Amino acid sequence: MRCKAILQPPPLSLSLSLSLSLSLSLSLSLSLSLSLSLPLQSDRLLIKGGKIVNDDQSFHADIYMEDGVIKQIGENLIVPGGVKTIDAHGRMLIPGGIDVHTRFQMPDRGMTAADDFYQGTRAALAGGTTMIIDHVVPEPGVSLIAAFNQWREWADSKSCCDYSLHIDLTEWHMGMQEEMEALVKDHGIRYQPLYTLSDSLDDINVIRDLGAIAQVHAENGDIIAEEQKRILELGITGPEGHVLSRPEEVEAEAVNRAVTVANQTNCPLYITKVMSKSAADVIAQARKKGTVVYGEPISASLGTDGTHYWSKNWAKAAAYVTSPPLSPDPTTPDYLNSLLSCGDLQVTGSAHCTFNTSQRAVGKDNFTLIPEGTNGTEERMSVIWDKCVVTGKMDENQFVAVTSTNAAKIFNLYPRKGRIAVGSDADLVLWDPDVTRIISAKSHNLAVEYNIFEGVEVRGAALVVISQGKIVLEDGNLHTTEGSGRYITRKPFPDYVYKRIKARSRLAELRGVPRGLYDGPVCEVTVTPKVMTPVTSNKASPAKPTPQPIRNLHQSGFSLSGAQIDDNVPRRTTQRIVAPPGGRANITSLG
Ligand SMILES: *[C@@H]1O[C@H](CO)[C@@H](O)[C@H](O)[C@H]1NC(C)=O
Ligand SMILES: *[C@@H]1O[C@H](CO)[C@@H](O)[C@H](O)[C@H]1NC(C)=O
Ligand SMILES: *[C@@H]1O[C@H](CO)[C@@H](O)[C@H](O)[C@H]1NC(C)=O
Ligand SMILES: *[C@@H]1O[C@H](CO)[C@@H](O)[C@H](O)[C@H]1NC(C)=O
Ligand SMILES: *[C@@H]1O[C@H](CO)[C@@H](O)[C@H](O)[C@H]1NC(C)=O
Repeated sequence: MRCKAILQPPPLSLSLSLSLSLSLSLSLSLSLSLSLSLPLQSDRLLIKGGKIVNDDQSFHADIYMEDGVIKQIGENLIVPGGVKTIDAHGRMLIPGGIDVHTRFQMPDRGMTAADDFYQGTRAALAGGTTMIIDHVVPEPGVSLIAAFNQWREWADSKSCCDYSLHIDLTEWHMGMQEEMEALVKDHGIRYQPLYTLSDSLDDINVIRDLGAIAQVHAENGDIIAEEQKRILELGITGPEGHVLSRPEEVEAEAVNRAVTVANQTNCPLYITKVMSKSAADVIAQARKKGTVVYGEPISASLGTDGTHYWSKNWAKAAAYVTSPPLSPDPTTPDYLNSLLSCGDLQVTGSAHCTFNTSQRAVGKDNFTLIPEGTNGTEERMSVIWDKCVVTGKMDENQFVAVTSTNAAKIFNLYPRKGRIAVGSDADLVLWDPDVTRIISAKSHNLAVEYNIFEGVEVRGAALVVISQGKIVLEDGNLHTTEGSGRYITRKPFPDYVYKRIKARSRLAELRGVPRGLYDGPVCEVTVTPKVMTPVTSNKASPAKPTPQPIRNLHQSGFSLSGAQIDDNVPRRTTQRIVAPPGGRANITSLG
């Protein structure tokens, strides 16, 4: 990795490479795969006669790439002799897919998800995805930085494609804000996405001030815990209990709450795993009203439904267990595909997290114990092509937007990723719109027995996949190098998201009315008058748009999240913001 940094210095400050060398010292002992990847740096490749498809236009041109970067685009390019050439006549060239949500190698109660960073990124590449963003899930008591370094170590040694990381906040504790700042500033890196928000508004304010994006997994732990108990008491212990205990309106209610808080705090919001019609509707409505919110349906919710939870085959039914659950309404995938096509939903991930049958069987007598997650990183692009483009709901450009470009813009990777342009990374896919294949566990590149898309016929697939300027899929064969994937840094405050947020925070300053002092008679009163929140005339500088009326954040009783480590701690049944900035809002009663 150090060698790589020298050959191809990342476009970032020195502090970055310093922190890199620290966390990478371990992977240096594994330098075999690194030295193998060195010759690839000088790969030169010409693709002739393809139709280049970006999110905003399609056109015919040749592409010449060298050292992992697109160097020239034009008609009849003249390139040095001996350059490997791919004839793409009649086929489309699209930017490599970005899977914004993976959970490779996820630890769960001493088990580890069956697909690690090697298997997982191979599957991604096989399906036309050349970059993944994985979720770091810190164990309770482990610092964010330690967890981040652990994931870096796993991914650096195994990942076959470029990757980046989100960090899930599973708890909120003292010192967390400093850790978040350190991750953003000192490491000069990425940062952004956070996920499960905790019980206060502290974190959402911190997220906004750091230029990150609040990612919320929208579920309501309190209601679910009650329902699980009730359903187990009814004697229902199988996977159908999982979906029965998580009604659709509970997902929608949680999304609604997250949207309200995000709008009130002027923080950009990103809903991971949009699984139901009602949740998608809440996001679409909020966008119409102007909230800065993005929705991420996943391969599973776009491609299949929750009727399988009632399969007589326990292992099959258990393979669909994920949260929020797949909707038992079989018209849901079509509905979500339509919203994705018209732009009401913007990004797609796979939430790929696979456990094999014997791992799932930990919950054979109790559905609450089944490890969660579905596959989909390999199938994502084909599922969307088949369900959206073939059906005429979206065109090829919108396909590129929802599989790659929008993700690159939201997560500040654009135009390095998400676009075919001179100077962009040579991550691209020769896409065959007509090929038809049947998805099966027999042919997939994963380490588990069941494929939730088993037997599904899809049109559209990757013929040739190029990652870092190197052909990694050709003639159905994968040529990947373990550990060749690079960690891609991301800067905070992506323009695509924050231009609006910044403009609003300038507008949001409250000002008192300039008027003379009242000097007339004042009535004597005996009762202490109600204390009013004073009208503040914040002269907040744009860099620090925090000042809000003061309130006790820790008693707002707010939960934006789903399953949390403190789910077993009883909470008040009525949750309400007492005096949120910008006016009063009622929070739905959770009783
Ligand atoms: C979002 O917040 C702004 C500013 O507080 C407010 O004017 C607007 O009405 C809110 N939008 C919704 C949908 O509540
Ligand atoms: C499932 O995964 C576990 C843990 O990795 C492994 O020990 C077991 O052999 C796997 N089972 C099957 C059937 O692949
Ligand atoms: C099922 O598992 C949960 C933990 O998720 C536990 O609280 C509950 O007692 C178990 N119920 C049965 C019937 O085994
Ligand atoms: C697809 O997902 C299902 C559900 O998790 C799983 O059973 C199956 O093994 C997965 N297929 C692949 C290829 O991982
Ligand atoms: C809050 O809820 C109460 C009771 O449901 C209702 O009477 C009140 O009008 C609501 N206030 C707002 C601001 O919506």
